[in-house]
Amino acid sequence: MITSDILGRFHASPISGIFATVQRLRREGRKLLDFSVGESDFDTPLHIREAGKIAIDRGETRYTPTDGSIDLKESVRRKFKIENGLDYPLAQIVAGMGAKPLLAAAVQAILSPGDEAILSTPCWPSHVGMIELARGRAVKLATGIDTHFKMTAGELDRAIGPKTRLVILCSPSNPTGAVYEEAEMRALAQVLLAHPQIAILSDDLYEHILFDDRRFNTIAAVEPRLYDRTLTVNGLSKAYAMTGWRIGFAGGPPAWVDAIRQIYSQSSGGLCSISQAAAIAALEGPKEFLADWSARYQIRRDLALEGLAAASGLRTAKPEGAFYLMPECAGLIGARRPNGETIGSSTDFARYLLEDWNVVIVPGPGFECDPYFRLSIATSDATLKRGVRLIAEACAALFEKGRERWQSPSRISSAA
Ligand SMILES: Cc1ncc(COP(=O)(O)O)c(C=O)c1O
Repeated sequence: MITSDILGRFHASPISGIFATVQRLRREGRKLLDFSVGESDFDTPLHIREAGKIAIDRGETRYTPTDGSIDLKESVRRKFKIENGLDYPLAQIVAGMGAKPLLAAAVQAILSPGDEAILSTPCWPSHVGMIELARGRAVKLATGIDTHFKMTAGELDRAIGPKTRLVILCSPSNPTGAVYEEAEMRALAQVLLAHPQIAILSDDLYEHILFDDRRFNTIAAVEPRLYDRTLTVNGLSKAYAMTGWRIGFAGGPPAWVDAIRQIYSQSSGGLCSISQAAAIAALEGPKEFLADWSARYQIRRDLALEGLAAASGLRTAKPEGAFYLMPECAGLIGARRPNGETIGSSTDFARYLLEDWNVVIVPGPGFECDPYFRLSIATSDATLKRGVRLIAEACAALFEKGRERWQSPSRISSAA
């Protein structure tokens, strides 16, 4: 079969794979507690849904400009200005079918084959996939639970080499929930100021999901001298519970925004007209629900942390935003399952939870780290309570079943 060599250069998203497995098992009748999903369990707010319906009835069902309607871009411009203090003229704004294709097109626009892009791990798998699809090389800067999954300015500085062309930032982070404070981001900015050849992609998708009264920071606003080489990417999928509407947007330097437009003009074309009407309603409408939902996620975070504290062999950092927990499971490595199999990695642990406990999590390798796993808390309080209780019981069962001695966690490398 004729295929491009690019197919050998990247992996499909592991999360999409798990999503497909969960759908299949459910169709076969398995009752699963699914903590793998990266989307809110809340419904898209009514006023946003209504705007979509009105757009259909008004006949707004035709092609729109490739980079989004003028009305949508005006709303995005206002959003960046009011919420982030970032002033982008319309020509520097592009909308796309979700943040994912925007980020992918941006990486294609910035990297040439062989260029390096730095990102800290654990990371969102698609950030790596996008770099690989653009024939670049991902330089993975490992962080861990003991440093709250944040890279320091010194670590970033040391990771920069002659081929570095891009740094990807994601705060609040999927999968760790880490949030850079202003001073921490300023320190990273200081390093980047010394390297004018490096572009910055700021993936701000979880901007509105913050805990404990934290403030959101985005690098082009924290350090205005980086405005000219930062693409600020955001969207409505996560905070507005609009994953299926497929709306993302970005503001940044004209050259990259034009490049994204050109790529879209020959690949995806424009956005869904109905979703754009809904997106305008979201950006211009009431926002109180965002804080309410953050408070709800925070309650769930605390519920999950409390439940997991009872689980032998796990250590969990307190997420500062987004809707994920990233427990470390080094303490379970070497344990034996009741069927005799040894838990050698987070992937083994995930298989054990699925096969013996009907609990779905995402193992660490997809996020470029092990032994960790990701647990989404974007699910009902009752499901979450039950799930973390089952995880604690599953861990206890490993300890009870007479495992051979544990491997010392210190002998296990914490990240790829
Ligand atoms: C960090 C991050 N960026 C971007 C995306 C993609 O968002 P969208 O659904 O708008 O394409 C996701 C979705 O999981 C994400 O977690």
